[in-house]
Amino acid sequence: MKKIWKKLYGGGGYYSSVRGVKTTISIIKADVGSFPGHSRTHPRLLEEAAKRLREREGDLLIDSFVTHCGDDLELLMTHEQGVDSEEIHRLAYDIFCRCAEIAKEMKLYGAGQDLLSDAFCGNVKGMGPGVAEMEFEERASDPVLFFMADKTEPGAWNFYLYRIFADPFNTPGLVIDPSMHEGFVFEVHDLFEHRKVFFNTPEESYNLLAYIGAPSRFVVKHVFSKKGVIAASTSTQRLNLLAGRYVGKDDPVMIIRSQSGFPAVGEILDPFTTPFIVAGWMRGSHHGPFLPVGVCDANCTFFDGPPRVICLGFQVCNGKLIGPADMFDDPGFDRVRSRSLELAEMLRAHGPFEPHRLSLSEMEYTTLPTVEKQLRDRWEPLE
Ligand code: F6R
Ligand code: MG
Ligand code: MG
Repeated sequence: MKKIWKKLYGGGGYYSSVRGVKTTISIIKADVGSFPGHSRTHPRLLEEAAKRLREREGDLLIDSFVTHCGDDLELLMTHEQGVDSEEIHRLAYDIFCRCAEIAKEMKLYGAGQDLLSDAFCGNVKGMGPGVAEMEFEERASDPVLFFMADKTEPGAWNFYLYRIFADPFNTPGLVIDPSMHEGFVFEVHDLFEHRKVFFNTPEESYNLLAYIGAPSRFVVKHVFSKKGVIAASTSTQRLNLLAGRYVGKDDPVMIIRSQSGFPAVGEILDPFTTPFIVAGWMRGSHHGPFLPVGVCDANCTFFDGPPRVICLGFQVCNGKLIGPADMFDDPGFDRVRSRSLELAEMLRAHGPFEPHRLSLSEMEYTTLPTVEKQLRDRWEPLE
């Protein structure tokens, strides 16, 4: 049935809108091999992924787009299957497996790195790839921004989500737009204890900050309007917690809806003009500035970084992705880039010392414990 509609109208989207079906947006990502070293995804993998997604448009998918941030292959998909759909997750996992095979043939670096298991069991969660999804009824016009990062952890988004949805110094709409004046609800996950909590803002802003100021453990998973409408969704997998050892950094993704009751595009991008330090640079073991860059600069070079973020903007039209617009490809972000690079130099001058290097508790999943094991017998008790 959907195939017939695609022939008539060029996509499954028209079919969905006349039936009042909700649109789902999924972004699923993984590092399945890169070149040289951990710096960028190879075009052959991007082509393979784009081809395989396109084959499913008008059938399982409405639309798709493929890109990369550093060594992470990013699959953007729209469909009507809802979040956590086994078919969508299987499609993404199969594509990652196929791309990992190509990466192995080419002896790309870290081929298959993020695929922690061969056996797909219904959902990519817990298997290595990162996933952010949201399902919603399309408004008359629905601008959506996709953020994709490399060399950092999921909690990196906490600062930005607070600024965007709870800080009136960033988002004047919270004060002057009646449709945002009530504030937003933050769903926070505790990645160590596997539990979640909801905080209403502005009422509970201080409680919220008490937790999300510790981004290695507490991560904003979703933001909702006070009416319960989804506004933002992030990926929260921590590879080292899943694997119990160091397997590269999590390199998170995030989707944010914009305008008409949600923050304006400019309010969403504004906090990225502040230099901000995140964890995950070089060997997943260093703090560094989070650099907003255009897609052509989404390649990690300087000390395997610095951690960087790209943003693609689309209008969602009956499930079709109209775009993309490369949102950080703008001289407006030149100043934060140069200030961040100054910070990068300052941190690099610390060499192997904290706070450039992560704290001991966060180094637990690196190769440092192996060094400690080798030296264990050299230690003598103090008198
Ligand atoms: C990977 C990353 C890199 C690597 C580093 C060492 O995402 O951040 O900094 O950790 O290049 O890589 P290996 O251990 O593979 O030689
Ligand atoms: Mg890698
Ligand atoms: Mg990466």
